Amino acid sequence: MPDVQQITIDVDSSTGVVAPSAWFGNEHPIELEIGCGKGGFLLRQARAHPERNFVGIEWASKYFRYAADRMCRWGVENVRLVRTDAKHFVMHRLPPACLSALHVYHPDPWPKKRHHKRRLFCAEFVDAAARVLRPGARWAIQTDHAEYFAVIRGLIDGRLDFEPAPFDDPEYGTIDERTETNFEVKYVREGRTIYRLALRRRGST
Ligand SMILES: C[S@@+](CC[C@H](N)C(=O)[O-])C[C@H]1O[C@@H](n2cnc3c(N)ncnc32)[C@H](O)[C@@H]1O
Repeated sequence: MPDVQQITIDVDSSTGVVAPSAWFGNEHPIELEIGCGKGGFLLRQARAHPERNFVGIEWASKYFRYAADRMCRWGVENVRLVRTDAKHFVMHRLPPACLSALHVYHPDPWPKKRHHKRRLFCAEFVDAAARVLRPGARWAIQTDHAEYFAVIRGLIDGRLDFEPAPFDDPEYGTIDERTETNFEVKYVREGRTIYRLALRRRGST
């Protein structure tokens, strides 16, 4: 049974590129969720797929601790949690082609114009995602914010390194089957539209 020490990874006490496989001690494919919140999606996926490794990044210490306790309670061995800034982490700390999937569900929209610079999605972040996703990897994105979704699409449309992929994918669970995230549940209940996009990293392995 893992304890919180084993599940949480302190990347900010080191510099340079990290080696995520070493956190797990195996070479299973690694999926990353950015802004994992209370960890509901990660927990369900990790339990359904013991043959995969999952990393969750969460900035807010309250949610980070909640998610870490939750993983321990369930005894999942294939999850690691990192409390850091996901944008910096993906852009500067991850090695190339290390991920088999990237999940970004309900990234903070920062709706005020003067706060747009705080958003996760920008051209540099999309370049970094293309670098860390291996050929064939999946990138799933979901938001309830129409304007932010249009911005995200604008950053990705026309790129040659990604191709559209079905969001409903049995390998990752269809929309009905897979865990809804906390925000998804809340927004669906409020009757908001959920915008979804899935991509596949082009290239050969
Ligand atoms: C709107 S919530 C969505 C949480 C979860 N994905 C869901 O759908 O229920 C956004 C989450 O991303 C986290 N977050 C925002 N910016 C972040 C960053 N730069 N690095 C890591 N986590 C971040 C927030 O703390 C928050 O928990």
